[in-house]
Parts: sequence; C-alpha cells; structure tokens
Amino acid sequence: MEQSHPIRSAVDKVVGAVTGDGGPAEIPGVPNSAPPSLEEPTEPREPLPPKPDQSGPDTFSPTGQPTGAPQAKVAQDGAYLTTAQGLRLRDTDHSLKAGPRGPVLLQDHHLREKVMHFDHERIPERVVHARGAGAHGVFRGYGAASNITKAAFLGKDVETPVFVRFSTVIGSRGSADTVRDTRGFATKFYTSEGVFDLVGNNMPVFFIQDAIKFPDVIHAAKWHPDREIPQAQTAHDTFWDFAGLHTEATFHTLWNMSDRGIPRSYRMMEGFGVHTFRLVDAEGATTLVKFHWKPKLGVHSLVWEEAQLLGGVDPDFHRRDLADAIEAGAHPQWELGIQVFPDTPEQTFEGIDLLDSTKIVPEELAPVQRIGLLTLNANPANFFAETEQVAFHVGHLVPGIDVTDDPLLAGRLFSYLDTQITRLAGPNFAQIPINRPHAPVNDMLRDGFHQTAVHRGVAPYRPNSLDGGCPFTAGAAERAYVEVPLEVSGRKVREAPASYADHFSQARLFWLSMSPVEREHIIAAYTFELGKCYEQAVKERYLGVLANIDSVLCRQVAEGLGLPAPAASQPLADSPPSPALSQIGQTWPADGRIIGIVAGDGNGNGDGDVAALGAVRQAVLDGGLVPLIIAPTGGKLGGTLPVQRSFVTARSVEFDALLVAGAPAPGKDAYGARDAKAAGGADAPVDPRVLLLIAEVYRHGKPLGGWGTASQAFSEAGVPAQAPGVLLGDDGTSVLRETLELLGTHRVWDRFPAAASLT
Ligand code: HEM
Repeated sequence: MEQSHPIRSAVDKVVGAVTGDGGPAEIPGVPNSAPPSLEEPTEPREPLPPKPDQSGPDTFSPTGQPTGAPQAKVAQDGAYLTTAQGLRLRDTDHSLKAGPRGPVLLQDHHLREKVMHFDHERIPERVVHARGAGAHGVFRGYGAASNITKAAFLGKDVETPVFVRFSTVIGSRGSADTVRDTRGFATKFYTSEGVFDLVGNNMPVFFIQDAIKFPDVIHAAKWHPDREIPQAQTAHDTFWDFAGLHTEATFHTLWNMSDRGIPRSYRMMEGFGVHTFRLVDAEGATTLVKFHWKPKLGVHSLVWEEAQLLGGVDPDFHRRDLADAIEAGAHPQWELGIQVFPDTPEQTFEGIDLLDSTKIVPEELAPVQRIGLLTLNANPANFFAETEQVAFHVGHLVPGIDVTDDPLLAGRLFSYLDTQITRLAGPNFAQIPINRPHAPVNDMLRDGFHQTAVHRGVAPYRPNSLDGGCPFTAGAAERAYVEVPLEVSGRKVREAPASYADHFSQARLFWLSMSPVEREHIIAAYTFELGKCYEQAVKERYLGVLANIDSVLCRQVAEGLGLPAPAASQPLADSPPSPALSQIGQTWPADGRIIGIVAGDGNGNGDGDVAALGAVRQAVLDGGLVPLIIAPTGGKLGGTLPVQRSFVTARSVEFDALLVAGAPAPGKDAYGARDAKAAGGADAPVDPRVLLLIAEVYRHGKPLGGWGTASQAFSEAGVPAQAPGVLLGDDGTSVLRETLELLGTHRVWDRFPAAASLT
C-alpha cells in the first residue's frame, strides 16, 4: 500500500477540515479548527474543538488519578456567555448605568468580575528562562539502561507521556527567540512511579561550579539595573565584567559565542542534563551518568545576521517553527543517551571531575549510549495553562535515579520549588493540570492557596489510627524512593576542590575541535559582544581570558576591537580535539525545512508557468518539507496555486533555501515610499524585494536554485552563477533535487572560505 508522507497527509487533513473544498494543501498556522464566516456568527454554538495538532494535559485529578474526563470538558463549555459562576449573560458590552448617559452602578457584578479577573491575568514571569515554548509528546524506553537502573520508564518499550519546554535564559517573556543565549531543554516525564524532570540546557556545561554564584551570573547577564537595557543578550559591560573576573565561566561563555548560541530551531538542538547523576539498579548497585538528548535532525544554527534580522522580522521564530512542524506532522524526535562512568569514590573519569559542571567528558572518551526515544507530537491547547504554568524541578526524581554532590545541583534542589511558590502563588502548583502526576498521590500536604483537591479523612499526620493508619510508608519492594546510603564526612568549609581551578583547558579543547568556519563565527561573536561594551578595561581583561584559550582567537578578536593582543598568563594545555563538538561535516534529514519559491504574478510575468510551479511545490511537500510560494501579491496564482508570502511580507530569514522561478518584474507596489525594500525599483528589470531575498539567501550560505530567466535575477542581485550552492537548471524539479541534497549539510559552507590563519 502506498504510504503517504506525514507532512502531506497532516497538512491535507488540516486543510481538509478548514476549507472543505479539497483544494490544495495550505501551510501550517491556521488559527482555528474551522474557518471564520465573513459575517459575524449569530447562531449559538458550542466552542470549536481544538485543532488536530493540539492537546491539553491528560485529565488526571489533583491527586494523580485518571479521571477519564474528555479534555474538552475541562475547557470552556456551552454555547452561551456566562459569568465565572455559570450565570448566562445577555450583554457584556455595556456597564450597568442609571440611564444611557448616567453614572455606572456599583451593583454591576458582571463589570466587577470581568475587570477584576482581567486585572490579575498576568503572573510573575520566571526569574530566568522566562521566554519559552512547549509541546506534548511521548517517550519510549529502549530498555538499554535497565541493567544499571530500576527506573520503570526506561524499561523496554515502556511509553511515558511527556511535556517539554524550551527556553532562552536571559530575556523577558516577550523577548525575541533568536538572541544569542543558552537554551533551556526541560522535560517532564509523567511516569508510573511519579514525575521525573530532566531540567537541562542545550549546552553541557555551566557558567558556575557552585549554585551560590547563580544570582551573580544572572545579575551580570541580565539588563543593567539603571536603564533595564539591553534585553535578552550578553553584549554589554556587566556580563563581560563578571565573565572576565570569574573565569570559571570561560567554557560556557565559549559555547554561547559558538554557533550553539543561535540555534536554527529547537528541533535541531542537543540537550544535556549537565550534572552527573547516579543511577541505581534493583540490587542497589550504582553507576554515574550524564544525560544527553540527540536530535534526529542534527544540530544546526542560524548565522548571526539571520538571528539579528529575525529578532525584528519574526521574534517568534523558534516557537512558530516548533508549533508549525508539529501541526504539519513533522514530529521532532530526540534519542535520550547516557555517558556511563563507574561510581568510584573519587567521582572522576579519565582525570575529569564528574562533580564539576563546568567540564564535559568528551564523547570520544565515553560514547553516548542511546536508551530511549522522545517524540513531540502535540501542541498545547492553551499556552498559559500549560507552557507558562508548567513547573520543573531537578528534585522530581524516580526510583533508580539519584543526585550527586555537585554543589551546583544542590542549590538547584532548593531553588526551583522556592521560586515556584511565588511564581505560581502558593504551594499547590503540583495540582495545576500540566503538573499533575500520573501516579496516585497521598501526600498529607494540606490546604494553602488554590487547593483543588477535596481531601477526606481527619488524620493527615503519621502515625495515626483515626484514618486507619493511612497513608503507609513503602519499602523498596513497593518501589519507594530510597536515597543511596553514601558515607558523608569532611570539614565544614567554604572551599572548592583543587580540580575546580582549571578554567581553560576544556575551552581550548572546544576551540581546537571547531572547523575553520565555526572558528570564524566564534571570533565574530566575541568581537561583536566585546565591541558593544563601553569600558576599555572590561575588553582588555577579557582579551586576557581569550589568550588563555588560543593565541589566534585572541589576536583576531583584539584586531576587531582595535586593541593589542595580550600573551597567555599560563601554559596552554593541548588535548586531542573532540570531533563530536563540531556541527559541520555530516549530512542530516531535511524534514520540515522551509523552501521559499519566488514566482511572478501568474500571468507569465517572469515566473514560468503556474502548472510547473505547482509541480515543484508538490515535490517539496512530497519530500517532507514546507513550501512557501512568494508572489507580488497575495491570492492564488492562475486561480489555483495559493500564495503564502507577498513581496511585502517575505524576508529571506524565513527560508532554509530559495527557489526562483524566473525574474519577476517589479510589482505594482514596488516604490520606496510604500515599501523601503523596493526603493528605486519601479523601473528596474527585476523587483528589488526579490533581489534582496536572493542576496540575503546567498550571503547566509543557503542553497539558491533557479530556472527559466532566474539567471538574470541572480546576476542583478550580484550572485555569481558559478558560486558554490547556486543551482541553475532547466526545470524546477531537477533544481529542487539538487537543493535537497545540499540542505542535508544545512548550509553551503564553502561559499565563503575561512581565513587562511584558521585552516
Ligand atoms: C546546570 C545548570 C542549570 C541548568 C541546566 C538549568 C536549567 C533550567 C531550565 C531549563 C529552566 C527552565 C525550566 C522551564 O522551562 O520552566 C530553569 C529555570 C530556573 N532555574 Fe535553572 N538551570 C541551571 C542552574 C540553576 C541554578 C544553579 C539555579 C539556582 C540556584 C537555577 C534556578 C532556576 C530558577 C529559579 C528557574 C525558574 C524556575 C521556574 O520559575 O519555574 N538554575 N533552569
């Protein structure tokens, strides 16, 4: 039987539901599960169902019991507007007044309830990781870790529902997605033994070794307290002031300055648990591990100019990308992996301190072993209820997974619950639907703000006889959580171990592991960020840090800053590179990538013929990618082919590759007073907005294909026809084939070779 492609069939399904006309599939992003009528609806009707890609949290009671209630029944219900008490209302547009021009009456309970609730719609944002996006999914264990952990959810073919939230660290809730920053990667597993949270990042190391420094690093990285600028970035004096003085941040800062700081998509990021955890098997034997998430689509990044443009053009780029991919059926996947180390008294591996979260263990020394598969398959039905109210905590553990004495982890074990009391207004946030366990809860915790469970009995204390002794404690046989009984001893001191003093050797290892083009990006990032600092002392001090990583890096950044390059203050430690740290050199699936297809007006105005365009569009869909047709105006080309972007709305940064079907003449609105991108273009041979698209795609290293008269457009845009990744052919489908091959490597890296000093 012929298998239809998941993207196609999902898109067709969505569009079938929406248009009902069996017409050509649209792109993801449809606002609701049925199209609006032109006229305002007047017939009462029940709320629309969610879109097929959306799901709320599973319906469990506040105490972890499956309720069996359909998700629709915990949402708004009924055809008529009511108060919060269920009272039907006749009017919600006018306050109750003494006559049409008279004063408003205090007795207007509806006005008071409506405004009171609105007044309290906002809640405090997270103190860090405020900006994020979430999705539902499922985790399937491979059973490969069952020899070292008794955790039930890691058993073979055990399926566990999950909720994942990705985030940036520094910016406010409304900040842009594509800023240079670490990304959070937090996963809530609703296991049969209680909730397990893996609260990680897309970088395997952290700025600090001890949680007591967390307020310092965050105060330094966030905005200046006097002006509250800049937003969501480290390119300012306080961050580099701190990072230059507190050199244990060197390695994490280097990750941030690398391409990892500007991911192409949440779907294309690795995730790391960062700390070392302790796994425990059924006999009590222990193993140390580090958790990794490996994306099926590979690790890919934006280039810096794209990231900056996107901050203005589409600040929601990453959350849109995630939601669109899920809606289109291109469900993102990661494999969970572990690096495994013997649990020795020193807690080191090959000389690397496993309790120091500023250090990695290179994958070449300890390969990542795959133990399960995560698939994100549904978008939240309500952002606030789910993504905003979800509360992760590193202390949410299950039998078989224990913590280590990493002092960074210890502080986190305190911090998450503490902050959530304020953020979620009281101690009962575990009862919010997205946080509810899928295992029975009998906790003796009582009352407090927003208590939604209706507890019975009279004896929430132990021991008791009045409630028959319930609840009872469990033994290991009943799968109780039992901490590993480790010996603890030592002097009471405020000190770090000697091994924590090495701040540079792994930063150098990372630098040496980068390809030339990745090194160029790192040099540019440091030069940009330090170049935005005001104080010369801050820049000079940081150049001293860079000198301890690598002399070429230091010299190149110093050159950009117009400052002398200092010498290293200590010998540089050379270790063999770790190829696993580089993002370049492999090929990956291009599923869900976005291809822009530039057409003319459908009347032969520089666009080839509409049937041929339709065939290319179809081939893109069949390949599991998302085509966006770009034409001078909206509407349908030739009355059949839907246009998704006009020359006014399109910007190159939305696309992973661009196909150009000819050389479209200037649109009717191509004059600068209307659209600055079109300045001087009314009489040009090709629309200037199209030339801008081509030029940007070219300099961002993306595949660029064309047919028909496209060569004319390329040459007008200053793109050499022979340049790497510029594909000119006779017809769209053959050009598309070559484009897809190139997309497997993400970008055309050899279009702009790195400087000789870096190769
Ligand atoms: C390895 C180091 C760390 C990692 C990987 C990490 C990761 C994360 C992530 C992913 C989130 C966002 C969770 C979400 O999406 O809701 C988060 C939030 C947070 N983190 Fe961390 N973090 C680290 C260190 C720390 C430390 C040392 C502290 C405090 C001492 C801390 C305090 C917080 C707080 C207060 C929040 C906000 C939680 C909330 O409001 O729900 N983190 N962290």
